[in-house]
Amino acid sequence: MKTSALALRILIGTLVLALGACATGSGSSANPPAAAPVAAVPSATPAPAAVPANPTPVAVVAKIDFDKQIKPIFTQYCYACHGPTADFPPGGVNLGVRKSALRAIAPGSPSTSLLFKVVSNRSMPPGGNPKPTARQIYLIRLWIAQGADWPDDAEN
Ligand code: HEC
Repeated sequence: MKTSALALRILIGTLVLALGACATGSGSSANPPAAAPVAAVPSATPAPAAVPANPTPVAVVAKIDFDKQIKPIFTQYCYACHGPTADFPPGGVNLGVRKSALRAIAPGSPSTSLLFKVVSNRSMPPGGNPKPTARQIYLIRLWIAQGADWPDDAEN
C-alpha cells in the first residue's frame, strides 16, 4: 500500500518534471514560457486524491489484530489465573472480558496502563511462570498505543 503510493508519487513527480522540460523546451521560442509550467501544476494536484487510502503516517506500523496477535498471548500466559471463567480473577482483572481488562488498560497510553506496566516489568505472570517474550510485550504495547481495539466477538 505505502510502497505503491510512494511509487505513484515518484511517477507523477517524474511526469511533472518531464512536462515541465517539454513545456520550457517548446515554449521558449513562441509561447510565453510561464504559462506551461503553471498549467502542469494542476495535473500534479490529483496525486493526493489518489493517495487517501493511506490515512495517516501512523499507518506505517501495521494495525495490531486483537484476535490473532493479542488474545493468544493472554491465553497462553494469563488465562490460567485471569481467564474468562475465573469467578474472582486476581486483582479484579479478567482478561477474557473487555470491560474488566480495560480497568488495567488506558487505550492509547501504554505507559499509564497497569497491564503494560506489570507485563513489561515482568511481574506478570508472577513467580516462576513463563513470561511473554520481548516481541510479545512489544505487540501488547503497540496494541494499547493503537487504542486497544477489542472486537466484541473476541470476548470469551
Ligand atoms: C499464576 C497466576 C497469574 C498469572 C498466570 C497472571 N497473573 Fe496477573 N495477577 C495474579 C495475582 C495473584 C494478582 C493480584 C496480586 C498482585 O497484584 O500481585 C494479579 C494481578 C494482576 C494485575 C493487577 C495488578 C495490580 O497491581 O492490581 C494485572 C493488570 C495483571 N495481573 C495482569 C496479568 C497479565 C497481563 C498476565 C499475563 C501476561 C497475568 N497477569 C498473568 C496472578 C496471575
